[in-house]
Amino acid sequence: MTTSAAVAARIERQPREAAPFVKWAGGKGRLLSQLRPLLPQGVEHMRHVEPFVGGGALFFSRRPSRALLTDINPALVGAYAAIRDDAERVIQALRGLASQHSKESYYRIRERYNRGRRLAASTRAAMFIYLNKTCFNGLHRVNRKGEFNVPAGSYKNPRILNEDALLTASAALRGAKLLCAPFEALLESAKPGDFVYFDPPYEPVSSTASFTSYAQDGFGREDQARLRDVYRELDRRGCKLMLSNSDVTFIRGLYREFRIDTVAAPRAINCNAAKRGKVSEVVVRNY
Ligand SMILES: C[S@@+](CC[C@H](N)C(=O)[O-])C[C@H]1O[C@@H](n2cnc3c(N)ncnc32)[C@H](O)[C@@H]1O
Repeated sequence: MTTSAAVAARIERQPREAAPFVKWAGGKGRLLSQLRPLLPQGVEHMRHVEPFVGGGALFFSRRPSRALLTDINPALVGAYAAIRDDAERVIQALRGLASQHSKESYYRIRERYNRGRRLAASTRAAMFIYLNKTCFNGLHRVNRKGEFNVPAGSYKNPRILNEDALLTASAALRGAKLLCAPFEALLESAKPGDFVYFDPPYEPVSSTASFTSYAQDGFGREDQARLRDVYRELDRRGCKLMLSNSDVTFIRGLYREFRIDTVAAPRAINCNAAKRGKVSEVVVRNY
């Protein structure tokens, strides 16, 4: 058996349930048990569309056979494509990076990643995953020039390479079309009968809680309003829609004509003990 055939056979043997291969701000992993019962009836026959895919927690847990996954972050979408198309090379490259991990090599690799415009897609994806697993808090932040500028994290023994997780993710992505695009691009690609899950950067709960710099630009109230317009248009088109956001008056007002439920999300670590615990999030549906 050739190496590729062996890898293909390993991909076949992976469990059905996949999981995100990167840590991502706003990841939905811990909300899946509350979100899954809210999926539309017959969702297993629909194309799964996620315009803010991020770590893709819902997509990976569902493993639909047909999907359209998009995000505005080119490095993230590039990594998805490399994992789907050449998991073997990504794993090989990541193995090399993991074997030399130290704080010093983190900064060396970050520099190469930022300077290396002509890196092979698999090398770039491996670097992206390496930086995600070893940087401070799994953050993704770029400067004005688009350079990744998060400092090294201080994990004792980070798990940088999880071959089985990457192979399972590769198998899950086989039927997925990937696109680096802003959410408005959905207006061209969404079709009646699609299931669309929107998980945009959240409207801040308070002015100090704001964390919206996922990409080069923040996501302000005008973006939220434009997103609602896209939601309305896709509703008219006959798509099944589900959207997550924070439970604040502004968001409830935007979607008042739709069905709004709430889920209880674990809060991020808060230094104020009184503010720890659960926080309410809305789930807006048109079915
Ligand atoms: C809350 S995260 C999604 C989390 C994801 N559901 C998960 O489970 O990891 C929001 C995502 O939206 C993307 N994003 C930000 N602005 C966008 C825009 N205008 N169009 C499309 N994607 C955007 C970010 O790059 C980020 O990956």
